[in-house]
Amino acid sequence: MTTPDTDSERLKQAAAAAALELIPRDCVIGVGTGSTTNYFIDLLGDIRNHIEGAVASSEATAERLKKNGIDLMDLNTTGDLPVYVDGADETNTRLQLIKGGGGALTREKIIAAASHEFICLVDESKCVDTLGEFPLPIEVLPMARSYVARELVKMGGDPELREAFKTDNDNYILDIYSLDITEPLELETRINQLPGVVSVGLFAHRPADRLVVARANGTIDVMKATA
Ligand code: A5P
Repeated sequence: MTTPDTDSERLKQAAAAAALELIPRDCVIGVGTGSTTNYFIDLLGDIRNHIEGAVASSEATAERLKKNGIDLMDLNTTGDLPVYVDGADETNTRLQLIKGGGGALTREKIIAAASHEFICLVDESKCVDTLGEFPLPIEVLPMARSYVARELVKMGGDPELREAFKTDNDNYILDIYSLDITEPLELETRINQLPGVVSVGLFAHRPADRLVVARANGTIDVMKATA
């Protein structure tokens, strides 16, 4: 178990602990990727006998689940999952998210889509009115990276290729700065339609269902989307 050494890390761990109380027992759960989710995985290890196993959204998560004694399952054989637990880089009040800071957005999106409930864990610094201060990650096939970057410039974005990084699927990540994300549903659809885009880290069509927010004053809020 990692010991949190900053206030921000303590909030991530507090959100993870609160999420543990929300998950159903005796079933397979989906598990995301990132530093917040890592705290959740370590806590999950303590109740490993009460879950059947987990579907991992990245190689890093698979490794950590294994270290915690949790059985790994294949989404192709589990069918839909009751719950998916993951962090986010930003969330608005509709629980639409930017994800992919860790580069695992495609597998995260697949598991979120195949899950009945998506529980998202954040510290309060991730809660924003309008998405987009955090650069929007897009996973692209290698031969499409320049084409997709040019198309994103036409949409008003400022793309940067993530340096020295390949995804678990052997693709590249473009991080898009300065995008106007006032209409997340439309933007997600538009970017998804570009040939060569594997997935975009905008989770608007499949937002979170519940948001666990750890606040600096010590409180934890569990929220649903507001219209
Ligand atoms: C991983 O690809 C991401 O989607 C993470 O869920 C997101 O970046 C949040 O990560 P942290 O919990 O490390 O902030």
